[in-house]
Amino acid sequence: MKTDRRTCVVTGGAGFIGSHLVDALLARGDNVVAVDNLSTGHADNLEQAQANSRFRFVNLDVSQRSLMAPLIANCDELYHLASYVGVKLAAQTSSQTILNNLRSIDTILDLVTHYKPRFLLTSTSEIYGKALDVYDAGPDGLSEHADRVYGSTEVHRWSYAGIKSVEEFLTLAKHHEEGLHTVIVRLFNVIGPRQVGRHGPVVPRFIEQALSGEPISIYGDGSQRRCFTFVDDAIQTIVSLMRRDDTAGEIFNVGGTDPISISELAELIVKETGGDSSVEYIPYETAYGTHFEDVHLRIPNTRKLDEWMGKSFETDIADAIRKTIAAHPRVGNLSK
Ligand SMILES: NC(=O)c1ccc[n+]([C@@H]2O[C@H](COP(=O)([O-])OP(=O)(O)OC[C@H]3O[C@@H](n4cnc5c(N)ncnc54)[C@H](O)[C@@H]3O)[C@@H](O)[C@H]2O)c1
Repeated sequence: MKTDRRTCVVTGGAGFIGSHLVDALLARGDNVVAVDNLSTGHADNLEQAQANSRFRFVNLDVSQRSLMAPLIANCDELYHLASYVGVKLAAQTSSQTILNNLRSIDTILDLVTHYKPRFLLTSTSEIYGKALDVYDAGPDGLSEHADRVYGSTEVHRWSYAGIKSVEEFLTLAKHHEEGLHTVIVRLFNVIGPRQVGRHGPVVPRFIEQALSGEPISIYGDGSQRRCFTFVDDAIQTIVSLMRRDDTAGEIFNVGGTDPISISELAELIVKETGGDSSVEYIPYETAYGTHFEDVHLRIPNTRKLDEWMGKSFETDIADAIRKTIAAHPRVGNLSK
């Protein structure tokens, strides 16, 4: 009897989003291999998956071609999430972190060209750079076809956008040259359990500070606005886009569309943790070093996603924050 079960490889599978993707694919009945070098990810994130006989974890750098080849030879779907992630890491970046992404995408796309599994790349809203701040087009201007605006190469934070752009260019080139089934999703500030604040993301950092009773440290004046996406909503969309036959060669913005300022976010997190932390404002130069530039406004244009998939995001920011706090290990410990 023919079964619908697929064999999926998730690179970066021990990371925040990757580990949730692994759990979701296993819940759908698929066989899953997670590949991760544990540079920023944690084996603990895969605790739930490890109990499943359809799961395997391989501790490996994805640029190791000969070791990756047998994994990709036998898979139907390859989700490429392995990456150095975020502007804070990029602001402190070394050539090593830049080369990590380039070597990874080079190896992975070479193997995908050879073995032809479906391929999905997780790209980022950072791709747009400061386009929303510079154009007067409003959020509707930032469709997947929008022009991008970056700062100087002397400002390290733009390296993340630059590298992820190269990953997109290579993916699209391989689609056109080799007829590969590739899908690119540009994620906007995904949040949820297992995300750690160490490398910069704001929500886990604020939650950690609020639960510890420390002041919440806001970089800049707190008026910068962002949209957040709960991880379960992002994962559901990622898998659906991978499994449609008509998405080959397409790019999708994937994100929540209700902006909140960083000051309002801090207030919300203090309220939801039941804490009484104060707020302190830290200049960008102190947080990121000199020559840092931030983006004031980032709102996704999800018209394409809405047209293709119908409205797909169910979790609002307050709900997402509550779920993330409830799953925090420290909250679990306190309630034991
Ligand atoms: N979290 C977000 O809000 C967000 C937003 C936009 C895009 N993204 C993209 O989503 C993906 C996952 O991000 P995340 O937030 O889960 O970050 P993460 O740091 O938790 O996950 C990345 C994982 O990749 C692994 N990794 C890095 N280089 C590797 C290599 N060479 N070989 C094997 N493993 C390697 C790390 O150990 C880590 O587990 C990334 O591609 C990122 O660019 C994330």
